[in-house]
Amino acid sequence: MSGDLQRRLLEGFAACFDGAPDLVSRAPGRVNLMGEHTDYNDGFALPVAIGAETRVALRRRADANVRVAALDFAEQDRFALCPGLGMGGDRGWRDYVRGTLVTLVRAGVPLGGMELAIAGNIPKGTGLSSSASLEVAVAAVALAAMGRVEDPRTVALWAQAAENDFVGVRCGNLDQLASAAASAGAALLIDCRSLELKPVPLPTDAAILIVQSGVARGLVEGEYNARRRECEEAAAALGLSALRDADLEMLAAGRERMSPTAFRRARHVISDNRRTQNAVEALLADDLASMGRLMNESHASQRDDFQITLPETDRLAALLAGAIGAEGGARQTGGGFGGAVVAMARSARIEEICAEIVGQYRTPTGSPPEIFVERAHPGASIIPISF
Ligand code: GLA
Repeated sequence: MSGDLQRRLLEGFAACFDGAPDLVSRAPGRVNLMGEHTDYNDGFALPVAIGAETRVALRRRADANVRVAALDFAEQDRFALCPGLGMGGDRGWRDYVRGTLVTLVRAGVPLGGMELAIAGNIPKGTGLSSSASLEVAVAAVALAAMGRVEDPRTVALWAQAAENDFVGVRCGNLDQLASAAASAGAALLIDCRSLELKPVPLPTDAAILIVQSGVARGLVEGEYNARRRECEEAAAALGLSALRDADLEMLAAGRERMSPTAFRRARHVISDNRRTQNAVEALLADDLASMGRLMNESHASQRDDFQITLPETDRLAALLAGAIGAEGGARQTGGGFGGAVVAMARSARIEEICAEIVGQYRTPTGSPPEIFVERAHPGASIIPISF
């Protein structure tokens, strides 16, 4: 699959710009095992970088002009790179690329002109962070073209700034840190406040399943930003700068000072932070029973308190939890309102579980769900130009 992607990238580059690129980067999508909507509350998250990724091929130009070909959409963009560069305003791929490059320029990276071709295989609208992987892949290849070696956290924060400041989505740092800094074979415990990162090796006989509900995440930015405001309201009512510093006792004591909605949002964030730390202990102890229980609880918390699940993802998570039994569990993953459900189970049981889900779940269009069995992949890198 990745050989096909590279072929498509290099052939597309040649078709658009003649010849070969100087450099190619890759940046993976991510699936979050635990800790949802905790990142912008300065909390903890536990993502895994997946096999699907975005690749960007770059050739330097002698002038300041940038030409970009998005091969998956058969679309192009061209502009002169300068600190005042405007966005296209469509909040699509063009703004992600423009936003990332202009963020680097404003951070003092003296980028010149370039030709870029982009191709990827992360399904869009499924909560697997195709946009963060695009930002990180563009940043990685542009920095490498300048001979700059940066801490992956710096790259991730620039990518996040591109999305916050130029695309206008108030996302946290989870997706970009996972894409930039994950390690093979391990989940990545992120302390979203201190940016401390800790690889957490996955049990060798445990598998990660990503099951697509078939409901694409639509225009949910308004809901996302509303959740953020409600969390901020709860933190302010508790006299805190972020919910990271709250526990359930403090929340109970402050209940009268906030709206019932803010209370529920905070209860989700505080409990998912705790579950994320407990999940690390469970994985390190190869305790899939505890991990599964935490995943099931996290789904219920997203459904009842944070209210970001849909009937389809509720049904899928329940079917998975039932099929998996005691040794594992399932939860909706990502920003919410559709997309994918992530599950963990013993590797030996995967075929049986998949067969059961394919037999029982139908997407809204009546087809069986797409299922990926994932391994933990490494974060972004520069790769050889060959296929
Ligand atoms: C989206 C955002 C992330 C994070 C998740 C929810 O993916 O981009 O920053 O908030 O939702 O955990």
